[in-house]
Amino acid sequence: MTGGASFIGSHLVDALLARGAHVHVVDDLTSGRLENIEAHLKNRRITFVEADLREPGVTRAAMKGIQVVFHLAADHGGRGYVDLHQAGPASNLFLDGLVFWEAVKAGVEKVVYASSGCVYPNYMQTDPQKEIYLVEDDVKPPHDADNMYGWAKLMAELTLQAYHREHKLGAASLRYFTVYGPRGVENHAVIAMIARAFIGQNPFDVWGNGMQIRNWTYVDDIVSGTILAAEKINDGTAVNLGTMERVRVIDAARMVLEFSGHKAEIRLRPDMPTGPVNRVADNKLAKKLLGWEPKMAFRDGLRKTMDWYAATHQQEKVRGVLEKMLTAR
Ligand SMILES: NC(=O)c1ccc[n+]([C@@H]2O[C@H](COP(=O)([O-])OP(=O)(O)OC[C@H]3O[C@@H](n4cnc5c(N)ncnc54)[C@H](O)[C@@H]3O)[C@@H](O)[C@H]2O)c1
Repeated sequence: MTGGASFIGSHLVDALLARGAHVHVVDDLTSGRLENIEAHLKNRRITFVEADLREPGVTRAAMKGIQVVFHLAADHGGRGYVDLHQAGPASNLFLDGLVFWEAVKAGVEKVVYASSGCVYPNYMQTDPQKEIYLVEDDVKPPHDADNMYGWAKLMAELTLQAYHREHKLGAASLRYFTVYGPRGVENHAVIAMIARAFIGQNPFDVWGNGMQIRNWTYVDDIVSGTILAAEKINDGTAVNLGTMERVRVIDAARMVLEFSGHKAEIRLRPDMPTGPVNRVADNKLAKKLLGWEPKMAFRDGLRKTMDWYAATHQQEKVRGVLEKMLTAR
């Protein structure tokens, strides 16, 4: 697995080990954290190489003897990062190209790719009044992906489809939608809100006008869908993994305040990056092809995530890193 020390990657490692897989992780720890996979390293349940896959020879060596590649490594962050950084995410174009090319050369059976809701056209996501659900087929010309990050995810999906047709590589792409849960980091909205409440921020910042709609999806659901896709999809089809629960940012913020008991005045920050105002997945294709349905309702997942955050963080440390983390990776 590439990027196996990440938030989502480390949960995928846990689930694959529980199913009896042998897992080899390559991660340069630029945004992943060793502590996410520490227990498995101590028990020698995984092999791990700390390296940048873009450096000469690293990806080639990583592919040796591998049956299925879960490719999660990416230059990626939350909304602040994706809007404000284009050069970093552009490097995903050659990272993904290299991983796929070396996979073909090494005779890997299948590549399972962590794509994103950012491949959907921006122009479809501009009206918060519409009850719109993004369907896989909406990704077609004229393309209008979300920043360089979204374009690279789109190019990777298309590359995998071409490699399936022309090189017989097995492939599946999963379009993850705003994932949250334990081990998440503060550059993503839900964890940022939890962190703000945790340190008692008042006024309590909410980026944008709060009317942006999202379908936050719990990490365990993302992991189960990813494994099902590894088992059931071979032709490079891209599938949404996201709930169809529509939640406004302002309502998520109010829930965080309610659950934490923190009483604060909400301060809207329209000057900060907001992303598309209406992004929710249609998940019928995942149901049809994978038999997948998300199990976690947002309120329940949020409570679990808040409990985890409070149990594993210290206020002073969070105060020290929060501002920087909001736009970094
Ligand atoms: N978190 C979300 O809401 C979300 C949504 C859509 C897609 N995704 C995708 O899911 C994947 C995992 O994301 P995440 O949120 O768990 O955290 P993340 O962005 O921290 O994961 C990326 C991982 O790849 C590693 N990495 C980056 N560049 C590398 C390189 N050149 N060589 C080796 N390792 C490298 C990082 O250290 C990190 O562990 C990413 O591909 C991301 O784009 C995430």
